[in-house]
Amino acid sequence: MDADTEKARAGAAAAQEVQDGMLVGLGTGSTAAHAIAAIGARVAAGLRIRAVATSRASEALARRAGIAMLDFADVPRLDLTIDGADEIDPRFFAIKGGGGAMLREKVVAAASDRMVVIADGGKRVAAIGAGAPVPVEILPFARASLLARLGEGAVLRPGRDGPYVTDNGNNIVDCRIGLQNPRESAAWLDGIAGVLGHGLFLDEVDAAYFAQDGTVSRLER
Ligand code: A5P
Repeated sequence: MDADTEKARAGAAAAQEVQDGMLVGLGTGSTAAHAIAAIGARVAAGLRIRAVATSRASEALARRAGIAMLDFADVPRLDLTIDGADEIDPRFFAIKGGGGAMLREKVVAAASDRMVVIADGGKRVAAIGAGAPVPVEILPFARASLLARLGEGAVLRPGRDGPYVTDNGNNIVDCRIGLQNPRESAAWLDGIAGVLGHGLFLDEVDAAYFAQDGTVSRLER
């Protein structure tokens, strides 16, 4: 089964967790897009929810799907967030941000009672850092010094015309940092002035749906 079909299955399964009256966080990326479509189909069938998006792209998708959207700046807490991941391991440690939205994804996840990750089987790894770099959102003003500080293998993510620019107006550095101790790595990144966010999600994920070989499995932290 191809990865996109698996993503769609994981997204559709997680969409079933959404209940009437919930405030829902909508993730970003190709897997989250499937969940948004599945939630939209449930809204069309009568489900009443309100949602916030973790990116402008997801906001547009959700509006087109008929989901009532709120501005996250006005929302103190959410019931549930459904989002994709680049890698996730048995500790429920995840790397996110392949789609560049990890800063908004993290603040939305942090405001949510529960965060559910959806992924195709290829994202399931023995330990995060197996393949995906850690995306780090940086203040453009400090680009050169932060690139140097983030070490060998740190690459400024390219955009269409120059560096990639996030929805927050910042740049992203994709880092190859050893993740033998992900908590130490996260604390190191958190301590660098000018680093505004990063894709190490170590405490946020409560459950995961993995679609692989035609079946969807759900794991709870
Ligand atoms: C977006 O910034 C990311 O965190 C995505 O959730 C992650 O990159 C997974 O993306 P796909 O679902 O497109 O693989």
